[in-house]
Amino acid sequence: MSEAMVQADGLVKIYKTRETEVLALQGLDLTVETGELTAIIGNSGSGKSTFLNMIGGLDRPSAGKLMVDGRNLFAMTEKELIRYKRDTVGFVWQNNGRNLVPYLSVLENIMLPMQFAHAGKRKARALELLDLVGLPDKRQSRMNTLSGGEQQRVAIAIALANSPKLLLADEPTGSVDARTADYIFDIFRELNSQGQTVLIVTHDVALSRKVKRVVAIRDGKISSERILRQSYADRLKESDIDWRSEETQEEYAILDRAGRVQIPREMLDELKLNDSRLRVRIRDGEVVLSAPEDEISVRERVR
Ligand SMILES: Nc1ncnc2c1ncn2[C@@H]1O[C@H](COP(=O)(O)OP(=O)(O)O)[C@@H](O)[C@H]1O
Ligand SMILES: [Mg+2]
Repeated sequence: MSEAMVQADGLVKIYKTRETEVLALQGLDLTVETGELTAIIGNSGSGKSTFLNMIGGLDRPSAGKLMVDGRNLFAMTEKELIRYKRDTVGFVWQNNGRNLVPYLSVLENIMLPMQFAHAGKRKARALELLDLVGLPDKRQSRMNTLSGGEQQRVAIAIALANSPKLLLADEPTGSVDARTADYIFDIFRELNSQGQTVLIVTHDVALSRKVKRVVAIRDGKISSERILRQSYADRLKESDIDWRSEETQEEYAILDRAGRVQIPREMLDELKLNDSRLRVRIRDGEVVLSAPEDEISVRERVR
């Protein structure tokens, strides 16, 4: 088995403000294998960005452990962390204001992060990346003359400049139209087919249905996981599939290290429980959850 690219163990993040404490991550466990493309979905405020920022070395947890590429992120010195951010991870944001320089050309922007490479190599690499994101004609254009989608593609090239082992993208298609979003997602898929490990946070349901593995975060924990059905895996380019509504993936609940599973609300409603007790039994090799029957209520028992 290859070594996991990301191994998160019981990550906890508490944001303290003057009045309140926000529990952004509540013991998050996740493993991402090398070479995987994984999407993270979840409601706004569920902790997706907090988690991605931690992997990107931009934030530290309140508790827990995070291994990336075999290294313990929270045992790194400042110097090691700087090198990690430059060489091991590449980051694409929804709005890339913070890594694009408006008055430089596209080519200059892509060469910028490659400070330590030989000048000739920098240019060759930048041109190669421009090809990869489909913008070879824009090399001399200034950033501020590009459309939002084009800027986003340049941002992907920049994130890849130092050949990071792990590419992170936080809602990279959040501010572009559906067609551009599709195009951008295809770039991530193409990169992945060449071996790039990619972790993408997305709100886009249709796009997430084309991904082999989607993990859902709820309240700062991975709650479920969806895996692309084999029958769809070879049909990603077909346009007659309605990716928004077809059930392209199988959904699984996630068992945490303590043996806990989060049961979806709709299923719990089916049980019509009076309180939080339920029966757990094995029947024909399956675990069955049901409402307690024929039991005296707790109040009676106490009497
Ligand atoms: N710097 C911060 N200070 C205080 N609270 C924060 C900070 N960053 C995020 N949060 C809170 O943490 C929770 C998770 O946020 P975030 O990771 O951004 O969620 P998501 O990306 O899934 O929308 C939210 O309740 C958010 O308000
Ligand atoms: Mg976010």
